[in-house]
Parts: sequence; structure tokens; C-alpha cells
Amino acid sequence: MMSITKVLVCQILGFLLLGSFLHCQAVVRRHTFVVSYTPYTRLCSTKNILTINGQFPGPTLYANKGDTLIVDVYNKADYNITIHWHGVKQPRYPWTDGPDFITQCPIQPGGRFSQRIELSTEEGTLWWHAHSDWSRATVHGAFVILPKNGTTYPFPKPDAQVPIVLGEWWKKDIIEVYEEFMRNGGDPNVSDAYLINGQPGDLYPCSKSDTFKLMVDYGKTYLLRLVNAAVEDILFFAIANHTLTVVGTDASYTKPLKSNYITISPGQTMDVLLEANQPPDYYYMAARVYSSAFNVAYDNTTTTAILQYNGNYTPSSVPSLPPLPYYNDTTASVNFTGSLRSLNSDDHPIHVPLDINTNLFFTVSVNAFPCVNASCAGPNGSRLAASVNNISFVSPAIDLLQAYYYHISGVYGDKFPDKPPFFFDFTADSFPVYYENPARGTEVKVLEYNTTVELVFQGTNLLAGTDHPMHLHGYSFYVVGWGLGNYDKHKDPLNYNLVDPPLQNTIALPKNGWAAIRFKASNPGVWLMHCHLDRHFTWGMQMTFIVKNGPGPEAQMLPPPPDMPPC
Ligand code: C2O
Ligand code: CU
Repeated sequence: MMSITKVLVCQILGFLLLGSFLHCQAVVRRHTFVVSYTPYTRLCSTKNILTINGQFPGPTLYANKGDTLIVDVYNKADYNITIHWHGVKQPRYPWTDGPDFITQCPIQPGGRFSQRIELSTEEGTLWWHAHSDWSRATVHGAFVILPKNGTTYPFPKPDAQVPIVLGEWWKKDIIEVYEEFMRNGGDPNVSDAYLINGQPGDLYPCSKSDTFKLMVDYGKTYLLRLVNAAVEDILFFAIANHTLTVVGTDASYTKPLKSNYITISPGQTMDVLLEANQPPDYYYMAARVYSSAFNVAYDNTTTTAILQYNGNYTPSSVPSLPPLPYYNDTTASVNFTGSLRSLNSDDHPIHVPLDINTNLFFTVSVNAFPCVNASCAGPNGSRLAASVNNISFVSPAIDLLQAYYYHISGVYGDKFPDKPPFFFDFTADSFPVYYENPARGTEVKVLEYNTTVELVFQGTNLLAGTDHPMHLHGYSFYVVGWGLGNYDKHKDPLNYNLVDPPLQNTIALPKNGWAAIRFKASNPGVWLMHCHLDRHFTWGMQMTFIVKNGPGPEAQMLPPPPDMPPC
């Protein structure tokens, strides 16, 4: 499925660009992704799921920093689909970023789209996933970006590396789960299992014989490339008797952080070193949910895999389970996430914007719309919704990127507000009921090229305060501050970390708390920003930035490929 066409591409590029030989160090790797339905059996029952090349989880992509990949996506299923390269900045090239009705129309059944993935500063682990309806539940995989040839990791070279993809499984067809909650206006069904590399593990029925096993040699070090591909849930993860050392997140290196557990939100990725330094035996690795919303149902099951030492010994009759923080342990969650720091070394410097031109303050809320005769399944017969700055996003009929590029009017407005319509105690215990109903709209925020942006996300306690893993396409951002309760614009900036803040593409805003991020708008294009819990996303917790072209040819969006899927 893969061919490396380095020499050819270098010749062509060298010819076309007349001496721009720098491009020849990077490689173009070509892959084929065929989308189809494939039967899979989990938890004692079989269903057809959407897959790539018949695999679940999907194939792991490997590349070196700075490479270009071309993935030819063929849709052989009878379901519309798009594919997104989560965390890849796609400099000046939003065309193949993937979110449906933001940068493209879906690839229809029988259709094909050749997607170009432009790596630049990313190094470490990312992932790819479908970005239309809820098809990403089964259409996803890891994306490993190795150091450039001739360079190496900023830590001793691990003896081996292993993708660990955390997922989530419903016995029901995921499309039905999606259509049902869209129809009735209530919460979606909770999942039936979590997965490690596609397997629920020993604690679920009919699963034991397929439990994922990681075989290790005593004394060796393993680089776990962890992806949270779950649809709805932030997860805690740990390995019995073993300490984890986090060395990167969202394809950016961090100062080594030792911990007995990690918190990983949907969309987030982590590079974790595991030293096999315990007495040879079988040990469980395990993950379960961190769910902070009051009165919202969650899947309380635990997925496991086995860490198994090679050698001749008699293993314990039952492997030990690692302790995991309790389901609603917000302190455990934020203590971990708040301890991440950029490596910030000579080889991996950071560039935190210090002079801010644009200050944005976005509230993120779960809301409700009234429903005729109170006939919906949300609280008091309402229809659940979600919003950013009180605007619940409405998907347009053609994609925003096309509308922007070809000046098609009437598709979106450019009035996305810099702040919410009202300021009140966002984290209070109760609110006047009219605060609960958001507006509906398809508004974008337009940024001039190279604007330095500080964006403060404020979580509200409307309906049900909970954590929100906010993700921005086209950029990574520095997380310069976070806290619980209401953001205080006088006090909180005094405690910002401008020295070594982590560089992320997804930040889990704590329940009834805030997070401040900074980025420089140096990537022209149309870039989606949203909560990575799919129910919130589907309910409208999303908005889009349009970053304008700047002066000079290097600051212009590139032209579209010839095969954009038709609407
Ligand atoms: Cu993981 Cu909008 O994406
Ligand atoms: Cu959310």
C-alpha cells in the first residue's frame, strides 16, 4: 500500500523549483485508503463497521518530520465520508484538511479524493480520523512522525515503539446512535466498551482471547504512542506497577513528566516512555473514563491490555490492575494536564507570542432549545444544544472554504463575536432560564495574517458543566494558563507561564474552569475550532477562523487540488 517515490519527486521538484534542493530532503509517501464496510465481532456480537482497508483501528501512518504524504481515499461504502489529519497544520493548504462543510464537501459513495498532507514542525505522535457525522468511531488510526533522518529524539532512543490507540465501542450501529440522538434531542446512548488497539480486554464478555498483548524484554525501554480516539470520553490510563514518563504531547516534545497515570482527552496524543523494569510477570494496562458532568450517564467499564515480560517464569494467576483515579476526579485530571511543560531546548525552542494584538474570550456551554409540546428527550422536553459565545453552529450547505475562496455570498457571516453577549457568573449553580437558549448561526471570525491571538476559553455551568477538549485545526497553540472557576482578567494573566507552556492542538478545558491559549495567525486558510466530544460538537460547540492572506507569495493560500469532492 505504500511507495516512497523520493528520487522521482526530488527530480521533479528540483526541476520545477529550479534549484530549491531543500525540498529534496523531504520524502513524498503515497498511500491508498479504501473506505468500506467490514464485519467485526466485539462483545459477543457482530456488526458491519466503516473501516479503512478493512482494518480496525485503521493503518498506522509513518513519516519523518517535514515529509509530504499523499493519501488516495476511495469511498467504497454507501455513506458520505471525509478524512482529517488531526494536528497536522497543513501550511497554506486547508483544502485536504477534511472537516465536512468546513473545508470540503463529503466524498460520496463511489467517489475519490487524493489528499495531500503537509508536515512541517510536527514531530511525535498524531492521528487521523473521519470528520463527518460520527464515522470517526471506527475510522481512525495513529500517525507516527519520526525525527528527520540524521536527527534523533531528545531522549535516549527507545528499544521499540508501539501505537496504543484508545477507542470506544457501541454494540449498536454507530450511525444509528448518531441518528437517534439527533432525532430525539436527548443524550446519545453511552458506549458499551472502551478499547485498547481495537480490543476491549479481559474484563468484558467474549473478549479475553483477543486482548491486546504488549510483549516486552526486561531492561528495555518502549515508546508508547498513545492516541485517544474515543468518541465521547476523556480517559485515565495507567500500567500496573510501572511509572510512565511523558516526553511529548500533540507532536511536540515536553519536559519528561513522570506519573503513575495520565489523563488523555479525545483528540489528544501522547508520547510516553515505559521502562520494563519490574519482576517478569503479566501486568494490566487499563483505561477508564473521567466524567465530570453531574447527572450525565457514562460508560463506567474498564478496558485492559496485558504487558507481558518475555522469559521463563510462572506468571501470577491474575495480573494486577493499576489504580486509576475515580470517575469524577477533576483534581487528578487537572493535576496531570497542568503539569505538562514544553521541552524548550536549543533543538526544540518555543516561540510564545508575547505581544498580543487580538484578545478573544469564548464561553463554551451546553444549552437547550425549547421543543414543540416539550416533546424532545432533553431536560424538561427540550432539545439539547451547545454553543461557543452563545452561538450554536449550523452547518452550511456548501463548505466554508469554497465559499471564501470563490466569494460565494450567503453561506456564512463574518460576525463571530470576540466575547459572549452577556457577562454573568458563568460557573454559578443556577441561572435564569433564558441564558440556556443560544442563538443559531454560521459565523466565522476573520483574522488578519500574523495576528497574535490570545484566546481564553471559559467553561460555563449552564445545563451541565463539564470538561471540554477544545481543538483547533491548522495550528498548535501554547497553553499559557488555566484555572477552575471564572477567569479573572486582572489576576489570572499574572500567573501565565510564558517560559515553557506546552504546545498542543487540543486542550481539555476543566469543568467550570478556563484555559488561555496563544498562537500567531501565520497559516492562511479556513480552520475549524471545536470541542472534541462528539455530542457537544454535533450540538454546535464549534466555530471557524478564517485567516487572511498576508503580503508576499509565502503568505498566500495555495490553490485547490483539481479533484475537490463536489457538493
Ligand atoms: Cu480530531 Cu476537528 O478534529
Ligand atoms: Cu465539550
